[in-house]
Formats: sequence, C-alpha cells, structure tokens
Amino acid sequence: MTNTRSLHTIPTVGIDAVSIFVPHHYFSIEELAHIRNVDAEKFTVGLGCSKMAILGPTEDPVTMAAGAARGLIDRTGIDPREVGMLIVGTESAVDESKPIAVYVHEMLGLSPRCRVMDLKNACYAGTAALRAAMAWAASPAAAGRKALVITTDVAYYDLASPGEPTQGAAAVALLVTANPQLLVIDTQAEAVYTREVMDFWRPTYRNSALVDGHFSLECYLESLRACYQMHKEMTGLSLADFRHVVFHTPFPKMAHKAHHRLFELEGGRLALGMSEEDSFHWKVEPTLGAARELGNVYAASLFAALISLLEDGKLQAGQQIALFSYGSGSSSEFFTGRFGPAIAAWNGNTGFSDQLTRRRRISYEEYLFYRAAYEQRNRDGYFVEDQPTEESPYLFLGIKNHRRQYAFLPPGRAADASTGVLGEP
Ligand code: CAA
Repeated sequence: MTNTRSLHTIPTVGIDAVSIFVPHHYFSIEELAHIRNVDAEKFTVGLGCSKMAILGPTEDPVTMAAGAARGLIDRTGIDPREVGMLIVGTESAVDESKPIAVYVHEMLGLSPRCRVMDLKNACYAGTAALRAAMAWAASPAAAGRKALVITTDVAYYDLASPGEPTQGAAAVALLVTANPQLLVIDTQAEAVYTREVMDFWRPTYRNSALVDGHFSLECYLESLRACYQMHKEMTGLSLADFRHVVFHTPFPKMAHKAHHRLFELEGGRLALGMSEEDSFHWKVEPTLGAARELGNVYAASLFAALISLLEDGKLQAGQQIALFSYGSGSSSEFFTGRFGPAIAAWNGNTGFSDQLTRRRRISYEEYLFYRAAYEQRNRDGYFVEDQPTEESPYLFLGIKNHRRQYAFLPPGRAADASTGVLGEP
C-alpha cells in the first residue's frame, strides 16, 4: 500500500506579507486621566498607554478587516483569485450567525472557490486562525493558493471602568503561504495551554467586555510560564536565543510584566549576563508602538506588535523571534519564527506610521458621542447616508430591516465609479 504522506513534502510555512488598518480617530490618554481625575502617570507610566483608537460612525469590525486586507492586496499585487482560504479571528462578531469573513470576501472580490470562516477564541483567535491557515497552506489541497488571515477587534470597556484607558480598535491582515518570504514559523513544537478561567468575557447582550482585571494579569502570566517552559522542554530554546519576543500586549506594561516573568524563570541577570532593562530594551521595546498608539486590539494585538517591530526597521533575515499569544478564558501559545529573505523590504515600511500621521484627535465630547453611536449602531434602525472614497473605501451605513448595510469601492475601481452595496433588502 502506498504511503500517501511520503508523496507530499511538507514545505516551510508562515507569513508572507502583513498590513494594518488604523481607525481615523484617537483620544488622548492624558486627557482621559484629567477627566477621570486620575494622576496621568498612572495611565501613561503605570500602564504605559498613550492614545486609544476610536471608531468613527461609519467604521466597524467588517470595514476595518476589509481595509487591512485591501492594504495587503495593494502592496503585494496578488490576484484576489489566488486566495483559497479567508479566516477572520475576532471577538467582535457583528452577527450570531453570519461571519465577518463573508462580507469581507465580497468586498475584496475573492473567488467563490474560497473557504471562509470566523474564528472566536478571545485574543487567541488570531493565532488559532494563523495555525489553521498554515496547516491548509502547507497541504496539497492549497495547490499553491494563499490564505488570508484577518484579525479585527473593537476593544471597549465600560466608561470610567479600570479597563477604559486600555481601549482601542484596529485590524491586521496576514498573507499565509508556503515558502513565506517574511516570517517562517516553526511547526515542530506545539506549546499550547488551555485552562478554564473567568478573567475576561463579553456576554452576547453587551458591546463592551467585562473583566476581573488583576486576576486576568495573573492568568496571562501563569499561561506564559506554562507555555514557555513547555516550549523550552520541546526545543531547548530559551530567552537568550530570541532576538525579539513579541507578546500579546493589551497595554505596554503587560509586556514588561511578561518579560520580567521570563527573565526570572531564566535565573535573572547573573544567568543571562545582561540587566533586565537591557534585555527588555533590545528584545521587547521595539514591539510596543501599536499598543501605545492604538490601545488594546485584542486578537490583532500580537500581530500589531509584530508590525511595530517591522516598522522599527532593524531586522535581518535569519533572526529568530518568539511570539506569545494569550486569549482570556483561556487559551495560549508560545511559538517561534525566523525572518525570511524579504525582511529588508519591510523594515520601516509597513505603512503603519503613515496611517498614524493621518489620524485626527477627537475631543471628549466626540469620544462620548462615538462610544454612544457604537452602542446604538448594533440596533436595527440606525442608518447614515455616506459615499465611499479612496481614503475610506469601506463604509458601514447601519442596520435596516435587520440587515447590515455597507457601501464600498470594489478593488481596482476608481472613486467615481459605481459603488458596491451589501445588505440591501
Ligand atoms: N504613577 C505611576 N504609576 C502608577 C500610579 C502613578 N500615579 N498610580 C498607579 N500606578 C501604577 C500601579 O503601581 C500599577 O503598576 P504595577 O502593576 O506595575 O504595580 C499600574 O499603575 C496600574 O495600577 P492599578 O493596578 O492600580 O490599576 P487598576 O487596578 O485601576 O487597573 C488593570 C489596571 C487591572 C490592568 C485595568 O486596566 C484592566 O482591567 N485592564 C483590562 C484587563 C487587561 O488588559 N488584562 C490583561 C491580561 S488579560 C489579556 O491580556 C486579554 C486581553 O486582551 C484583555
């Protein structure tokens, strides 16, 4: 009998290209502290936050996802028909049944022969989606086609709650392929850890999350310890071997706490031959730009941290990095990758900084208005009239007759051409 496994040589697999979508508005964390009557340094130093990305009235998790993917398609020039799988990792579902992925599929003009799905697992959803996409991309079924993984999330907590200064929103798109040019991900070791805990959750009747804040930090750090030690036992690799460590970063101080945990596990300064500050500075600091500028972006956080590292611009082919993904509830994973030959083209050139400079700072009154609009817009009857433009090609218009309504410019279509419309009854 033929051994079918031997007929298929398993290729390297991982991330071939990345793109981020940054919402057009932000609110200052210092101003929030002033209004909440809190010492600003608690938020800016104690948590490490600087700005929170806030959705405008025509942005939602679907438009952010489409925006991130369009950036990726424009940059790489790939033919959308080459995409055979689209997975959206999110904890900001817009419907209990219909996936975000199928809206995005239409907006991007992907082939009908494309498997689409949403994947939910708190902030771990993006990594789960990446793993599923990698398994497909490495399989004979892919036949050279590419997978698109999109992480999109709106991280809102109740106004004036302890989580409020860590809020944010964004989407990241990853092109997942065999023989990737950007980051080859190790598929040999599987350091995953699952434990049922009630640290952070969002009941289906709420738009914003509930969290047992300090307990969630403990759960994150315990999962990190378990995954890291598991990975070390399997591979022999430890902190000293990684040029950078990219953490799920709900707020920048969390990355400090995570690095501190690994530094202690490895025996500290004497064993590692460098101070904790230096180790953090070299390995982790360059990953923090997105968490400072956007806030928490849940499932997109790990990949936004990776984009921050690329944007920092000092990477070389062959360098090994580690990544830690944590999803409350909880599931987590520690994994590694090596930069591929295309890394030079990505150094300082992800498009992230350009998008940050195009944002508008909003006032506290606008912040309250946009937050209230976010609550309202998930109800039938909310509707705005607007036209997509080259700058904002995907618009959420509201819900009419229980159908979400979107207007968009199909890829390759000029601004004055007719728009696509989704959801009309
Ligand atoms: N100047 C400087 N620092 C100050 C300060 C001041 N005036 N006042 C306080 N601080 C410091 C504190 O010492 C503390 O730092 P350390 O933890 O290093 O000691 C920091 O500021 C925060 O202070 P508190 O712990 O008192 O803050 P808090 O209790 O009001 O809220 C929080 C902190 C619990 C993290 C809250 O922001 C929260 O609930 N966040 C959301 C939950 C979260 O992000 N959890 C992360 C793990 S779970 C996960 O990762 C999944 C996910 O994405 C949600």
